[in-house]
Amino acid sequence: VGYVGVDDGPDALEVLLNGLSTLEYRGYDSAGVALANASLSVHKSEGELSELRSTLPEESLRGERTGIGHTRWSTHGPPSDANAHPHTDTEGRVAVVHNGIVENYQELRDELTDAGVSFDSETDTEVVPHLIASHLEAGDDPEQAFRRAIDRLEGSYAIAAVVAGGDEIFAARNESPLVVGVGDDGHYLASDVPAFIDHTDRVIYVDDGEFVRLSATGRRITDADGEVVEKPVETVDWDAEDTGKSGYDHYMLKEIHEQPTALRQCLRGRVDELAGEITLDDLDGLEHDGPIQFVACGTSYHAAVHAATICRERGMRANAYVASEYAADRVPVDGETLVVGVTQSGETADTLRALREAKRSGARTLAVTNTVGSSVTRVCDDTLYIRAGPEIGVAATKTFASQQIALTLLAGQLNGGLSYDAIEALRSVPDQVQTVLDTSDAKTVAEELVGSDAFLFIGRGLAYPVALEGALKFKEITYEHAEGFAAGELKHGPLALVTDETPVFAVVTGDGETARKTISNIKEVEARDAPVVVVTDGRSEAERYADYVLEIPATDDVGAAVVANVQLQLVSYWVANLMGRSIDKPRNLAKSVTVE
Ligand code: G6P
Repeated sequence: VGYVGVDDGPDALEVLLNGLSTLEYRGYDSAGVALANASLSVHKSEGELSELRSTLPEESLRGERTGIGHTRWSTHGPPSDANAHPHTDTEGRVAVVHNGIVENYQELRDELTDAGVSFDSETDTEVVPHLIASHLEAGDDPEQAFRRAIDRLEGSYAIAAVVAGGDEIFAARNESPLVVGVGDDGHYLASDVPAFIDHTDRVIYVDDGEFVRLSATGRRITDADGEVVEKPVETVDWDAEDTGKSGYDHYMLKEIHEQPTALRQCLRGRVDELAGEITLDDLDGLEHDGPIQFVACGTSYHAAVHAATICRERGMRANAYVASEYAADRVPVDGETLVVGVTQSGETADTLRALREAKRSGARTLAVTNTVGSSVTRVCDDTLYIRAGPEIGVAATKTFASQQIALTLLAGQLNGGLSYDAIEALRSVPDQVQTVLDTSDAKTVAEELVGSDAFLFIGRGLAYPVALEGALKFKEITYEHAEGFAAGELKHGPLALVTDETPVFAVVTGDGETARKTISNIKEVEARDAPVVVVTDGRSEAERYADYVLEIPATDDVGAAVVANVQLQLVSYWVANLMGRSIDKPRNLAKSVTVE
C-alpha cells in the first residue's frame, strides 16, 4: 500500500494500516510501514498487522502524508522482523516494499557486497533499496535512480519506494498486481483495490513494464522507454461495505452466506430460458469445437475439473490440468486448442505461466476470473468474469460456487446453448443454496465428529471435484488430515486408512447408476465401522447407510454439485470454529500466490 496526500488529507499512517488490514489475506507473516519526510521512519515486525500496531509509536508518526506499507508472505527468508518489509539502504534514505520474486537477486547481492554493502535481511527484496541508493550516490535524481535499479531486476514484482526528503512514491510492475487510486486528497497505490476503496473508487491499472511516479496532486506513468503512457481512470463499483464482515464472526462465514447473491450476479443477464440461449457478452459469441484445456490451482482446479467433466458430457474434448504441472507435462497445444485459465484472483503465478506457455504455442486463451483488471485478463485473449464480488477469506467459497456456475455457462456457450431444463435448474441454484444455508445440520455434524483422526471425502462424476474441494477446504482451515477421492478409487488403497475414527463424507445425488455405485462404496466403509456422512438430495437410498445426513434440495447434477459443496463448506467452517482455528487467515497460506 502507498499513499501520498495533500496537507489537509488523511493521516498516511492510518491510510496505510487500514489499507494493509484489507490486504492481509495476501500474506500475514510480517508487516511494516515507512513514512517519508526529511528522513524516513521505518517500523516493521514479524507476525500479523496487529503485532505491528502494538509496537508503533503512533503519536510520533501522526501528521505524515507520504508512506508505503506491506504485509508479507515469505518467499526468501523466514518470517522475522529483519525480513519484514519495507527494506532500506544502509543510510536509511530509501525504503522499498515488494511483492514477487527477484530471480537474479543472488547475483545482485554479490555485486553489492563486493562494493562494500552489508545486508540486514535474507530477502531478495533488500537488493532493491541498495541499488537505488547506489544510483543516488552516483548523482541520479530519485526517479532515474529508481528506474535504473528496476531495470536490473529479473523476475516478478510490484515495487514501491520512497526516498527521504521527498514527498513522492515511485513504483513499477512486472507480473504482480499494482493499481493506483486517484483521490481528491492525494494518490493511493496498492496491490488490490480494497486497500483504498474507503478513499476513492477511481483507479488506474498499472501494466507490466510501466513505471509510476506519484505526488499528492500529480502522477506520471511511463513505459520502459520512459515515454509517458496515457492511462484511463476507471471507476470500480465496489463500496467499502462490500469488504466489511457485516456482523459475521468471519469473512468466510459471511462469504458462504453471500453465495445466493454471488450466483445471481453471475447468472444475471446471461441466460434466456425460453430460447435455451446463453449470452456471455464478455465473450462476444465465442464458440469452439477444438480441444479445451482447463488450467488452474487449488480450489480453482476443482472448478476446472467440474468444467472439464461437463464439457466431456457435452461431447467436447476437454481436460483439466494442475497449472504448475502443465508446462512440465508438455501438454500438446495448437491453434485449434482453447486453454481456459481458471483463477479467482487472476494473479496466481502458476496459472499465468501455464497460460503464457499455451499462448506461445498458438492456443487461444480465455481467463475465468473474479478480478477486474487482474493480470490474467491481460494475458488472455478473452475474459469471462464470475462476478462473485470481493472475497477476503483465504479459503475460497463464493468464488468456487461462482466458478462452477460460470464454467457451466461457458460449456453451454461453446457448443450450442443449454436445454430449457438445464437453464431452469441453473436459475434455481441461488434459492437452493439459500435453503441449505437456512436449514443445514452441518454444525451438529461438526460437533459430533470434531476430534476424529482423519476425514475422507468421496464422490463420482460431478461430485468428484466436490469431494476434492470438500477435503481441501477442510484441511486448509482445520489443519486436520483430510483427503478427497473418486469414490471408486477408495477401494484401491485409501481404504487402508479407514477406521471407526475416520468419518467419510459421501456426496450422492440423483438416483442413477452413479449414485448406486457410490452407495456400494459407502457400504465398503460402513463395513469398516467408519462414521458415514451422506450429502444427498434423498433421491437414492444412500440415507439408509448414513450415520448423519446433510440434505440438499433435489436438482440436476450441476446444481447438486454447487449446493452439496455448500454443506461441506459449513462442516469445515464449524469444525475449524470449534477448534479455534484462524479461519480467515489459515497458517502458512495466502489468498493469492504470485510466485511459482
Ligand atoms: C492459493 C489459495 C487457494 C487458491 C489458489 C488458487 O493457493 O490459498 O485457496 O485456491 O491459490 O487461487 P486462484 O486465485 O488462482 O483461484
